[in-house]
Amino acid sequence: MEGCGLRAVGSHCSLSEMDDLDLTRALDKPRLKIERKRSFDERSMSELSTGYSRHDGIHDSPRGRSVLDTPLSSARNSFEPHPMMAEAWEALRRSMVFFRGQPVGTLAAVDNTTDEVLNYDQVFVRDFVPSALAFLMNGEPDIVKHFLLKTLQLQGWEKRVDRFKLGEGVMPASFKVLHDPIRETDNIVADFGESAIGRVAPVDSGFWWIILLRAYTKSTGDLTLSETPECQKGMKLILSLCLAEGFDTFPTLLCADGCSMIDRRMGVYGYPIEIQALFFMALRSALSMLKPDGDGRECIERIVKRLHALSFHMRNYFWLDHQNLNDIYRFKTEEYSHTAVNKFNVMPDSIPEWVFDFMPLRGGYFVGNVGPAHMDFRWFALGNCVSILSSLATPDQSMAIMDLLEHRWAELVGEMPLKICYPCLEGHEWRIVTGCDPKNTRWSYHNGGSWPVLLWQLTAACIKTGRPQIARRAVDLIESRLHRDCWPEYYDGKLGRYVGKQARKYQTWSIAGYLVAKMLLEDPSHIGMISLEEDKLMKPVIKRSASWPQL
Ligand code: GLC
Repeated sequence: MEGCGLRAVGSHCSLSEMDDLDLTRALDKPRLKIERKRSFDERSMSELSTGYSRHDGIHDSPRGRSVLDTPLSSARNSFEPHPMMAEAWEALRRSMVFFRGQPVGTLAAVDNTTDEVLNYDQVFVRDFVPSALAFLMNGEPDIVKHFLLKTLQLQGWEKRVDRFKLGEGVMPASFKVLHDPIRETDNIVADFGESAIGRVAPVDSGFWWIILLRAYTKSTGDLTLSETPECQKGMKLILSLCLAEGFDTFPTLLCADGCSMIDRRMGVYGYPIEIQALFFMALRSALSMLKPDGDGRECIERIVKRLHALSFHMRNYFWLDHQNLNDIYRFKTEEYSHTAVNKFNVMPDSIPEWVFDFMPLRGGYFVGNVGPAHMDFRWFALGNCVSILSSLATPDQSMAIMDLLEHRWAELVGEMPLKICYPCLEGHEWRIVTGCDPKNTRWSYHNGGSWPVLLWQLTAACIKTGRPQIARRAVDLIESRLHRDCWPEYYDGKLGRYVGKQARKYQTWSIAGYLVAKMLLEDPSHIGMISLEEDKLMKPVIKRSASWPQL
């Protein structure tokens, strides 16, 4: 590969041995300054059919809607900077990590109250996303650019677990900068899953990398980064891992447990909504950045086909509302042939009791997982918010997801936004599904714990659906506690009332998530960085009403 000079080196080899000259060269390229936020093209299906032409960007205007039952916020119209903002910025800057003088990321946590550091002193790819968005919204794109380039170099490393070699495109879960004060050198070590608990590769890292590259490009108008051969290759390598043909009968991506934000066994193996939504968003983001030259054109064509199949599958089979639930409840089983209605042979007896009470007449959501004879009815926050942001959800489905959130505020938000999933697993189920994980006991951590970082995704989804008042109410809850509790990683309990048993303090993404939410509310035009409008050619084929008619 020309340009960045990425070399395949053993993962024990340090980055200091690699040539950084080309990285510097890439950074020094003159920036093409185009109109901020609206300068970046979106390539839609329709454009593709007319020969990959490019035109001016989408307009991510929030959809106007007023809802009578929308919660009120005390800070409804006030954009006065909250004193927590300054504290948050200071804490975020304290978490910055430098490699040879350049900022390249933020630590997962800067918790001086505990000696148990584990790997929280590393830069996690997924954790850096809200930090990156905060910096972009604040007009500080350099750290994001350095991060994107540094992780791209890490992708070039050879990755092994024991004697098994991982795919070329795999991006690290995290990396660490080691400073040698005597030799005055910086080295990097990275984890692609070979050190992670459970030895699972982070499927989400590559998707977040592509989504962030788009956010950077969209925010700065600097097309030169995404157009470098290195970034183009990086995207193609990530996507070729997911677009390869094999034994799959579904367009969704088959995953191991623990391959995303929920990085421990939680029964999300199979086709988890979080990964499917990020996959969809990464595909659409890549589509807007890939150049249709050489193998780029072929990659684009594969993306387009996959997007059609994926959106059809998700919108039809993952979607659950009152009507759908009733249909599944009455499903026949053991249907053979193409005419089967119950295609995956889901047994109505496997529908958990809680979902009948939980499901309002108005509202709906994408369920956690769908596979052969398997439907995980749990509600997951990240997957549903990203479905709205990426427009995997149709406009009606997006509204229905927000309706459900309002109806089930006590369960999903409670006293601390936002539950990572609902409900929790307990007793026998917890034993079987988590393998008796003592960190994931009921209403704790990944098992129904409340994660402040999810505030930014909730806020973005609220803005996109035209319901900022919901986000304001969530921000109010955060402002009443987060700073006082020293920015914990997560909260425990049915209402999220208690600081998590093993939660880190000064968890960076809790801090950055708050900043992003505040900046989004203050200037909703930032939404364009992390939101994609519906592609008209991906019309859903939905037989039943996705939600009640809008008022
Ligand atoms: C935990 C979380 C994971 C996060 C990491 C660093 O392992 O489960 O999502 O990336 O901590 O904060």
